[in-house]
Amino acid sequence: MDVMLLVGAGQIGLAIARRMGTGMKIIVGDYISANAQTTATILNTAGFDATPIEMDLSSRSSIIAMIHEGEKHGKIKMLVNAAGVSPSQASIEQILKVDLYGTAVLLEEVGKVIAPGGVGVTISSQSGFRMPALTAEQDELLAMTPTEELLKIDILQPQNVQDTLHAYQLAKRCNEKRVMTQAVEWGKRNARLNAIAPGIIVTPLALDEFNGPRGDFYKNMFAKCPAGRPGTADEIANVAELLMSEKGAFITGSTFLADGGATASYFYGELRPERR
Ligand SMILES: NC(=O)c1ccc[n+]([C@@H]2O[C@H](COP(=O)([O-])OP(=O)(O)OC[C@H]3O[C@@H](n4cnc5c(N)ncnc54)[C@H](O)[C@@H]3O)[C@@H](O)[C@H]2O)c1
Repeated sequence: MDVMLLVGAGQIGLAIARRMGTGMKIIVGDYISANAQTTATILNTAGFDATPIEMDLSSRSSIIAMIHEGEKHGKIKMLVNAAGVSPSQASIEQILKVDLYGTAVLLEEVGKVIAPGGVGVTISSQSGFRMPALTAEQDELLAMTPTEELLKIDILQPQNVQDTLHAYQLAKRCNEKRVMTQAVEWGKRNARLNAIAPGIIVTPLALDEFNGPRGDFYKNMFAKCPAGRPGTADEIANVAELLMSEKGAFITGSTFLADGGATASYFYGELRPERR
């Protein structure tokens, strides 16, 4: 049986699993075991075959344990990484450990076992596009530094990270870079890897942001973006379906922005900050 590893049992992960996981064994991993259980139950009562496990994206041993669980059922053919913590949910250290380091380790470890013809998507964020450009050297460090050295690089040290939003932006920029380097490795196994960078998608994570210190900022963002509304997890699954199906056979190492035009407006439209 072909296996999908679903890391992060939230709304976006569930939507992608429902779209792509028919006929597969879906291993549903989440830090909060009740979330993994709930999502597995939703899938199992809708005709899918899901097994929940508690796992921590920020731990290499936990990632490897999840891979081993998957391998008990067959070949690992799909990876969906939709786990993460947002700026209003976690500290700078947690964001860097989960969203930046954990994602890098996951892409690396799954890249060692992904089956030929396999595909992966990881969910980054528009936040990675919002942050001003880094230097070519900084980008290369995010892309190429060995995973266990990654959190030691200069731009990720406490004196260089202003707040949790900045940490999140750095983590999501790093996701984009790691997808590029790992797509090269995955390609050697005839497998593909891409990222989707969503804008505001209504999920528990986004609702925490709406109710957090930057709530007005986010509400203004979706009201004034070209789409004029937040997105849904199913719209992110539309992009995942392209990337993970045969139609996406020529697409690997890419990050797809799906944000209702918010980033475009932030740079060149109504959402442009006054200071710019
Ligand atoms: N919702 C949005 O507006 C939005 C926008 C851009 C990017 N994203 C990204 O999408 C991804 C999924 O978020 P969502 O909106 O579906 O949120 P969600 O809250 O519905 O799901 C996130 C899940 O990740 C799990 N998780 C957190 N830390 C973990 C860890 N260390 N190990 C394993 N699981 C962990 C949570 O328990 C939760 O179940 C995140 O990476 C987030 O940064 C979301």
